[in-house]
Amino acid sequence: MPEVYVSRHPLVQHKLTLLRRTVTEPKKFRELVRELSQLLLYEATLDLPLTSLEIETPLAPLAGSEIAVRIGLVPILRAGLGMVDPILELIPTARVWHLGLYRDHTTLEPVTYYNKLPPEANTDLCLVLDPMLATGGSGTAAVDILKKWGARRIKFLGLIAAPEGVRALSTAHPDVPIYLAAIDDHLNDVGYIVPGLGDAGDRQFGTG
Ligand code: PRP
Ligand code: URA
Repeated sequence: MPEVYVSRHPLVQHKLTLLRRTVTEPKKFRELVRELSQLLLYEATLDLPLTSLEIETPLAPLAGSEIAVRIGLVPILRAGLGMVDPILELIPTARVWHLGLYRDHTTLEPVTYYNKLPPEANTDLCLVLDPMLATGGSGTAAVDILKKWGARRIKFLGLIAAPEGVRALSTAHPDVPIYLAAIDDHLNDVGYIVPGLGDAGDRQFGTG
């Protein structure tokens, strides 16, 4: 079975509650997405491999450490965009490859409209970024694309999932760990997560 991590950190739960509120306006919403992304990244990178690095402090030589893998961030447009900058602040050497997917409103199937992956899969770990895992169609399609491209190790970072989305992604890709702030109750009949937060793209960009 794939690993599914739901953060129980009090800061995550506090900020997620603010994020969900209808009265939270886009400026505050973006700020909370930013903070939550960094907190979840901390949990999703606990197993990153290190190599040793010999350095000099002002007082003595020291056997230090550095991250030993090349990391690629793959935000799913649009809503995943808000997770990129906060993660780049912590991993400034990461590469960013944008994937544009939207859900067809009638079928709820993902439609790919943009793919900025380079020809060669030159990364050791891809972090797929999307705040919402609803039916799981978009997340699964993104991982399909990355695997066809040659990605070796992939993790999914989201904020809120429906049980249906977790099931779909983990059935299609049992090797992809999923990191979340919450798994909600259910999907409604138009594919929205309940209680959720509404449309994550619209709420970030003020387009609702
Ligand atoms: C939202 C969200 C995910 C997708 C999740 O994007 O950001 O990408 O829906 O739903 P799924 O798990 O059922 O595929 P949306 O299609 O609304 O596009 P947007 O971010 O451009 O608004
Ligand atoms: N996409 C969103 O932004 N919100 C949902 O609840 C489901 C899909």
